Amino acid sequence: MSDPDYVSVTERQKETWATGDFNEIARQNVVMAEALCEAVDPHAGQRVLDVACGSGTAALVAERRYCEVTGLDYVPELIERAETRARANGQSIDFCVGDAQDMPFPDDSFDVILSVYGVQFAPDQARAARELIRVCKPGGTIGLAGPIPEGWSGDWFAAHARCVPPPPGVRSPLRWGTDEGLTELLGTGTRSMESERRTALQYYRSTAHAVDVFSTYFGPTVRALETIEPSDQENLLDDLEAVMRRYNRATDGTAIVENDYLQTIAIKA
Ligand SMILES: C[S@@+](CC[C@H](N)C(=O)[O-])C[C@H]1O[C@@H](n2cnc3c(N)ncnc32)[C@H](O)[C@@H]1O
Repeated sequence: MSDPDYVSVTERQKETWATGDFNEIARQNVVMAEALCEAVDPHAGQRVLDVACGSGTAALVAERRYCEVTGLDYVPELIERAETRARANGQSIDFCVGDAQDMPFPDDSFDVILSVYGVQFAPDQARAARELIRVCKPGGTIGLAGPIPEGWSGDWFAAHARCVPPPPGVRSPLRWGTDEGLTELLGTGTRSMESERRTALQYYRSTAHAVDVFSTYFGPTVRALETIEPSDQENLLDDLEAVMRRYNRATDGTAIVENDYLQTIAIKA
């Protein structure tokens, strides 16, 4: 079977991520970026790359350690937002527009590579994985935080996929959240790899508020709602709220949603 048309799929996905305003969702990713930086422990002077950085979540965390940080994302509006955030904080970070599947950096450029719910979305997964390894220095660290097939992430993906089927032949981003997938993707070129399941809590005013935030700002949800028939929109919103309710641990009417995810630390050979 021939490969999917990764160029067209990438173009469509880029439009999706440019829809809404991911910066409003990114607040939920800060705890994962903090935990990832604590585990990887980048420190002063090290060159750090945040792949698919969005509005700069992990890059901003790493720069606080006085690392030399670069952030890459293919959505120019998110890169602009990342630059604005860094400027407002007085942080110096080199943000650039680019594709995780074809990164504009020489081989062996970075001591540390981070990606929080980012590189996992590239449709040509093998190519994106090779790029992570290529731009990392020998002995350098690749730290990932990403969705797993179970729990909130798995159910959230499934609710969207029921309405808007993923492009034919393209592997699910959830593959990066399995030991088997990670071994296939990063096993060659790394000398060790360890993964740990963790729980990140997402805080909202209520489960309805959570769905409202995603249907207003999260590109994939906004796009799904635009794509489906008006009569199906209510069903998707109901499904999404059911997922939020299923993982809500708050008992006071607000929402504290448990998101189980995988944190992976790999060392380049
Ligand atoms: C769920 S958001 C996470 C953003 C950021 N890492 C964070 O934690 O806040 C996914 C990001 O991946 C970016 N992205 C997806 N595929 C990409 C690709 N092939 N190259 C570059 N960026 C990509 C999107 O533009 C989006 O900003």
